[in-house]
Amino acid sequence: MKISLGSDHAGYEMKEKLKQFLLDRSITVMDCGPGRGDQPVEYVPIAQNVAQKAASGETDGGILICGTGIGMSIAANKVPGIRAGLCNELFTARYAKSDVNINVLCMGSRIVSQRMAEEITTLWLETPFTGGRFIPRLQQLKDLEDEMRQTP
Ligand code: RB5
Repeated sequence: MKISLGSDHAGYEMKEKLKQFLLDRSITVMDCGPGRGDQPVEYVPIAQNVAQKAASGETDGGILICGTGIGMSIAANKVPGIRAGLCNELFTARYAKSDVNINVLCMGSRIVSQRMAEEITTLWLETPFTGGRFIPRLQQLKDLEDEMRQTP
C-alpha cells in the first residue's frame, strides 16, 4: 500500500511521526512536504499534491494534517475524484471509510494527540467500505462534481 502524506507547518511534527508509524507497518509513504516545520508554509499546494496523487492512483490514498484539518480538507476536496474527510475522532473515521470511502484523511494536529492520530489512521486504513447502498451516493458525488465542472 502506498500513501501520499503532507502537512503545513502546524502539522509538520505529527506528519513526521505518522510517516514513521506508516513505514513501521510496511506502508510506502510519498512525503509531499514540507521538509521542515520551523517556517510557515501554505497548505493549499501541499493538499493539491497529496490529493492528486490519490486521485490519479499513484497512491492508494492520502493523509493531510494542518492545525485543525479544515483548510486541508477544503483544499483536497477541490481535486476531482477526491473525497476528503476531516476526522478528529474515531467514530467519524470509521464511518467516513465504511459509508463514504474517503480517499484522503485529514486531521488537526492542534486537536488530536499523536496517539489518537495513529488510531484514527489505523481505523481509516483497516475499515472496509461497505459498498451496497452507499455506492449510488458516491456516484451522486461524482455526478455533482462533473456537473459543477461544466457550469461556467
Ligand atoms: C495555521 O496556523 C492554521 O491556520 C492551519 O494549520 C489550519 O488549521 C487551517 O485550517
